[in-house]
Amino acid sequence: MDEQHGPTPDAIMQLGSGFWGSKTLLSAIELGLFTELAAAGPLDGEALRERLGLHPRSASDFFDALVALGMLRRDGTRYSNTTETEVFLDRAKPSYIGGILEMMNARLYGFWGSLTEGLRTGAPQNESKGGKDVFATLYADPARLAQFAKSMSAISFGAGQAIAAKFPFKDYNTVIDIGCAEGMVPAQIAMAHDHVRGGGFDLPQLEPIFNSFVSGLGLGERLSFMTGDFFADPLPRADVLVMGHILHDWNLEEKRVLLRKAYDALPESGALIVYEAIIDDERRENAFGLLMSLNMLIETPGGFDYTGADCQEWMRETGFRETSVEHLVGPDSMVVGIK
Ligand SMILES: C[S@@+](CC[C@H](N)C(=O)[O-])C[C@H]1O[C@@H](n2cnc3c(N)ncnc32)[C@H](O)[C@@H]1O
Repeated sequence: MDEQHGPTPDAIMQLGSGFWGSKTLLSAIELGLFTELAAAGPLDGEALRERLGLHPRSASDFFDALVALGMLRRDGTRYSNTTETEVFLDRAKPSYIGGILEMMNARLYGFWGSLTEGLRTGAPQNESKGGKDVFATLYADPARLAQFAKSMSAISFGAGQAIAAKFPFKDYNTVIDIGCAEGMVPAQIAMAHDHVRGGGFDLPQLEPIFNSFVSGLGLGERLSFMTGDFFADPLPRADVLVMGHILHDWNLEEKRVLLRKAYDALPESGALIVYEAIIDDERRENAFGLLMSLNMLIETPGGFDYTGADCQEWMRETGFRETSVEHLVGPDSMVVGIK
């Protein structure tokens, strides 16, 4: 609102054209621009263009748009990373979070083009369109499976560190991450707490990916992979079970089945940690969580995200005697249920 002239369309235009900026960033990540600058240091535009193999026509518009969007710095004619892009978008660093953005670029950017159809029909708009099994379709291509697992690590890295810091693991000895993908979260917990052992449970396709990730961190002795299907099989037993970005993949009935299975697998006083972009109870503030729920429309037949109050209610109905919600990092929170 402009005090003197009334409403302005600025915010509407900015959001409406937001995909221009979004795709510019996603293409820069796809091209490895930030990784190149991290390795080479500041480069003038022509050298950067040549290294990335770009046509001369739009290269300087592309680089300068990234400057204007706050993703690059330019001093004179030389471009360099910002503090943030140097840390988070250099593929050579362990702090790289581009995995999730690479997956958004390769898959979701296109699929979100059919959001209106998804809203009209309630049906998924990804590779599984037409009623195919979501994970079987996603994992049919080994490159897509590897990219998906990496993207999960990127989205769970910060949450994993926060869970390791905030949950009282000193009172528990074993932890198993249900639907663990590469195993980023049990790895963060094990690195922060020397006494904790356990591992991850997931579909068989994830086994080699988990084993290579965990042994690469020197945790192969303490964390192991358990193969299973969480609808067909009982869940493995541990003092603490974790479910990250699991419940939001499924409809309410399936969510309740998974909570019941976790409850059954826990000992008395055991804990279930559910984490994801938990929506604020008023459903007004956590835009990322609400958009993630729309992403579940794109990706799954019945999945949706939910508030902390919703999750606590389902946990209580399942039998958990204590429940609580704690913010982790960014849009993510954890809901903890104690049996
Ligand atoms: C959205 S990913 C979440 C990965 C990880 N927890 C994270 O947040 O980074 C969902 C995970 O559930 C696993 N999954 C899907 N269906 C499963 C099933 N029926 N049994 C076991 N795992 C399953 C997938 O393979 C995938 O790793």
